[in-house]
Amino acid sequence: MKAKYGDFSEDGAEFIITRPDTPRPWINYLTNGDYCALCSHTGGGFSFYKDHRFHSVLRRGPQVALQDSPARLVYVKDQETGEVWTVNVHPIEKGSSFEARHGMGYTHLRSRYRSIAASLLFFVPPGIDAEMWRLELTNTGRKPRRLSVYSFAEFVLGNVTLEEMEPTFQALFNESVIGRQHILFTKRWWHPLYGWSEESGNWPYRAFLATTVRPARMMTDRGAFIGPFRSADRPAGLEPRLLPEAMAAGKDLAGVCQWQVRLAPGKSWRVDLAIGIQPNENTPDTRRTIRNLQKRETYDAAWQRTAEYWRGLFDTVRISTPDPDINRMVNYWNKYQLMVNFHFGRGPSYYHKGQWPAMRDSCQDAFGVMPLDAELAKGNLRRIAHFFFADGRACGGCNRIGLPEGPSVKVDLPLWFSLAVADYLRETGDFAFLDESVPLMDGGRSTVYEKMTAGINRVIADRGPRGLPLIGSGDWNDAANRIGAEGRGESVWLAQFLCCVIREVAPIMERRGDRPALARYRTRADEVRRIVSDKCWDGEWFVRAFKDDGSPVGVKGSKEGFIWINSQTWAVIAGIADAERLNQCLDSVEKHLGTEYGLMNLAPAFTQIDEHIGTITRFRAGWKENAAVFSHASAFNIVARCMLGRGKDAVDLFRRLLPMTKDPDQYQVEPYVYSQFCAGPAAGKDFGRGAYHWLTGTAAWMMRAMTDYIIGVHPELDGLRIQPAVDPKWKRFSIRRRFRGAVYEIEFENPSGRETGVKAIWLDGRPVRGTLLPLPTAESHKVKVVMG
Ligand code: GLC
Repeated sequence: MKAKYGDFSEDGAEFIITRPDTPRPWINYLTNGDYCALCSHTGGGFSFYKDHRFHSVLRRGPQVALQDSPARLVYVKDQETGEVWTVNVHPIEKGSSFEARHGMGYTHLRSRYRSIAASLLFFVPPGIDAEMWRLELTNTGRKPRRLSVYSFAEFVLGNVTLEEMEPTFQALFNESVIGRQHILFTKRWWHPLYGWSEESGNWPYRAFLATTVRPARMMTDRGAFIGPFRSADRPAGLEPRLLPEAMAAGKDLAGVCQWQVRLAPGKSWRVDLAIGIQPNENTPDTRRTIRNLQKRETYDAAWQRTAEYWRGLFDTVRISTPDPDINRMVNYWNKYQLMVNFHFGRGPSYYHKGQWPAMRDSCQDAFGVMPLDAELAKGNLRRIAHFFFADGRACGGCNRIGLPEGPSVKVDLPLWFSLAVADYLRETGDFAFLDESVPLMDGGRSTVYEKMTAGINRVIADRGPRGLPLIGSGDWNDAANRIGAEGRGESVWLAQFLCCVIREVAPIMERRGDRPALARYRTRADEVRRIVSDKCWDGEWFVRAFKDDGSPVGVKGSKEGFIWINSQTWAVIAGIADAERLNQCLDSVEKHLGTEYGLMNLAPAFTQIDEHIGTITRFRAGWKENAAVFSHASAFNIVARCMLGRGKDAVDLFRRLLPMTKDPDQYQVEPYVYSQFCAGPAAGKDFGRGAYHWLTGTAAWMMRAMTDYIIGVHPELDGLRIQPAVDPKWKRFSIRRRFRGAVYEIEFENPSGRETGVKAIWLDGRPVRGTLLPLPTAESHKVKVVMG
């Protein structure tokens, strides 16, 4: 079943799609961290630079998840017969063979029609803000062929938010200039705001197209190419021998090239082209970029850099377990998904328009990336640090292009920053980062450390009638936005989360000698812990929250939403009660929220709107936060299972979340990345339908759940803590991990089939006392761990 549409390559580095009619477009994000191209298995998708809202390049269609258009198309016309096809196979569905390989930074399509074999590679290299297309056509037949070959892409420049509302009006600001082997696309109106603004200027960038083979003709007028009453499957521009001469200004833009090619039997023809972005200025630099992109060597070098970049990055952490699905996912696609999230936050996907990189999510993405590249993660943390107010409130977003943001009503945001910075310090020991001074949103500056403590202070100060933190208009559950809207409702989850954050920052505060503040935090954590265990236990699980009127949310007496996942999971992660109670929390979660796909985030689904809980009760039952199987929250739960030593349960849940274990016709979205959720049982026949693919905190938490909690190698300020929690069937497994400049190769043996527990550790052949591997003393260390 799972191989119906394709499967992983042996090592997992590629997902090979073998037929074009997948249940949904299965996409890849091709990126160097700044330019980003969403590219489906047939070349569909769009692109942007840093911030999709304001620096858009290729156009996204309104129904992209169903229609997968516009696309990066290559048309071929047989000049003798006039027959036309697309090497993408879609939208002109001809072709006797099809294969698409999604890999790290590239998508490679191969197809064949009437003895013309096509190879179309798309990639985005480090160092050039462009997507590169490499097309190769081979005549596999016996007759010489005369072909016209066309490339086509639609451009939408700059502020896409306005463009999507007012496309025709926005087109009035478009300009293009066609050169010998390149095209420039510019926009004479731009302002980074949603909607129209009287403030305006030129878009500071321009898009370009450059190619290695001089086309017979190029055009930029999209309307003239497609023609009236037509679409991309029958464009008018292909009918004449040469493309019409049409340079667009004040109209919709496309970049279309036509090459005329003669192919003798057995011969191949190659062209490379780049579509990208650069500052809208004629400088030696911008000219050189365009010139270089007319040379094949540029593309060959860029392709090599792409492969080297991803290989190098992914080599920093590798695992080997007895489960090949897990190995493939963790060693390649989980990391790749994580990097996409890290760079673009909850940017655009095929399923949501996308916002900015959101604060809560960006902090978690940085946490995920930490073991791969802590320096990179630090860069994002530094950027995130700009989005705080003096009173400890945080902005909802932390955009990459320097736009100011307002304070968010979500109360948990600042704590995620503290948690991520604590992880950065464990990973690097770089205490100097805490003293970096960064501007505040409301003027003035404060250090990273001051921002961390201001955030904690705020959550400590904002307490409700029971002494728990206020939930206001929502915490992690964004859509539970009315529980405390009047200012009295309280969050049990946030109380637990606060305790966890205090525990994680405590060693850092100790080392800085900030004892008075730490003492205050600990007193508050003890107090909160007492309130949670005395007043929030409902017999078999913890209450989720208290409404403004004091009534509880998530208790046995309720008909709907009587148990919520996070206040069980985080009770465990924060160690908020004794082991017996915590185990009971996990049992209750499995009993009421467990499904074959993972865990629902609450149950039973709300069918009645509750104005005092919020939007969560308005989603259709079984969808999104209303009792869907929520991957992100399930991933937290894996960590909790490990913390209680329930290795078997942890691996079991991990496996249930793996996308490739699902029936692709039911799940529909990509089998190589996590989706944010899949529809829960209350969605009836849609149960198991994947939704909101790619952009989800699931990637960060699944990664760390496996490396730090299941395999159990977790950084601390003074070394690596070894604490595995595995499936007892795992007799041998290993991890290779970089830490403080050294490589640790850690082999685990589990001769008596334990779920957890360490009997002995050897570091470079010498026994280690306890379970902490000391900081490195050499470039590499070999470690053996025996469980027992
Ligand atoms: C999405 C958001 C995340 C939020 C969750 C629940 O995953 O990206 O920030 O916590 O939904 O609302």
